[in-house]
Amino acid sequence: MDCKRIIVAIDGYSSSGKSTMARRLAAAAGYRYIDSGAMYRAVTLKAMRLGYVSADRIDADAICAMMDDTSVDFRPSADGQITLLDGNDVEREIRTMQVSALVSPVAALPCVRRSLTRMQQAFGQSKGIVMDGRDIGTTVFPNAELKVFVDAGPETRARRRFKELIDKGENTTYEAVLANVTERDHIDRTRAESPLRCADDAVRFDNSDMTLAQQDEMLMRLFDEAVKRHVD
Ligand code: CDP
Repeated sequence: MDCKRIIVAIDGYSSSGKSTMARRLAAAAGYRYIDSGAMYRAVTLKAMRLGYVSADRIDADAICAMMDDTSVDFRPSADGQITLLDGNDVEREIRTMQVSALVSPVAALPCVRRSLTRMQQAFGQSKGIVMDGRDIGTTVFPNAELKVFVDAGPETRARRRFKELIDKGENTTYEAVLANVTERDHIDRTRAESPLRCADDAVRFDNSDMTLAQQDEMLMRLFDEAVKRHVD
């Protein structure tokens, strides 16, 4: 049977494991994976480098103007993919706590959201894509054939992210990571433009007590069902 290619939208809270889920599903399905959070992080990194955002100020006009000549793309690599900002590899830098600390205010700017939403929609033009983020099922692809919303308690999420950062050699504390996760949740949920929320037609689940294998199995089942529903 010739299966239709679908769009899978995976949204959820900070460090809920969405990216791991999305990456693994994309690999299993032979789909393209797009990390929309990496796009917001890359734009934030550029704004930081240009001095347009810091802990105590944000120059919205300069950031909006910057978006006209900013490109974010991805290149496959041995262990997943590399984020390219204006053609240059920024994968490592965008994952630091410095970027995490500034990304949510930048991502709340409507001009940034509109510009990145357009780029994300272009990635999904021929379907066969798994995209993770905060507003994929609500704003970027409201007609996605499968929408999943992932959650886990804040402490579980902070523990996961803290371990990831320490494994990468970053010098931080669990308390700092928990504070960042909680603050981003708040900004992402309360911003005016496409706030983080569960789409009405999304499958919602909490993965606090799930193993990776259980998570993969559940997602694969949802995926197979969604593909079947959309076969002509
Ligand atoms: O650190 P984590 O993996 O949880 O976050 P991320 O997916 O890398 O996203 C970083 C930040 O980008 C989020 O906290 C949001 O402020 C913003 N974001 C967004 O506003 N919309 C998206 N679709 C994806 C990310």
